[in-house]
Amino acid sequence: MEKIKIAAIVGSLRRDSYNRQLAMEAGRIIGTQADFQLLDYADVPLMNQDIEHPAPEAVSRVRAIVKSAAGIWFFTPEYNHFFPGVLKNLLDWLSRPISASEPQVLNGKPAAISGITPGMSGTGIAQDHLVTLISFLNMKVMNQPRLTIPSAQQQTDQNGRLTLTTSAPYLEKQAQAFISFIQNN
Ligand code: FNR
Repeated sequence: MEKIKIAAIVGSLRRDSYNRQLAMEAGRIIGTQADFQLLDYADVPLMNQDIEHPAPEAVSRVRAIVKSAAGIWFFTPEYNHFFPGVLKNLLDWLSRPISASEPQVLNGKPAAISGITPGMSGTGIAQDHLVTLISFLNMKVMNQPRLTIPSAQQQTDQNGRLTLTTSAPYLEKQAQAFISFIQNN
């Protein structure tokens, strides 16, 4: 049987991003059950309707990956109690219909949300804003479980490498829940 395809979207472009590391850990956990791909979108330009048609190459590339995925798993930091602008920019591009006959690629897609921060909020406030946006875009949001990890430094080594300890079982739980959620949607 073909594996379920999950695209992971990380809301941070930072090389050593905790959220990127969390996404990679999720990929390791479900690697045998799902084809898990981290979306590389650092080259997507700022949304500007003057360059919307024909779509820039980077936009066509990420659209194709998102379109072919059975589910989208977001891993987002919190910037000023919101999700980062790079993620909003990406979602603005993805929110646009491909053409008059092809709808936008997020429509009806199952979505899971996780986030990790050195702060205390665990990214919960940013996640709530993200839920508002992706619900408007008609994604099917798995509201439970969502994963919020505060105090990232308690689960990293001295080089900033994530060594998930207390949160590992919750990530595992969310991964299994998301696979079931996708299968039931
Ligand atoms: C932050 N950070 C942050 N953290 C948080 O818990 N709540 C917040 O509102 C903010 N606000 C904020 C604004 C801006 C502009 C930056 C750059 C940072 C800290 C943030 O959580 C921290 O830098 C994380 O390491 C970012 O995630 P990645 O890049 O490690 O995935």
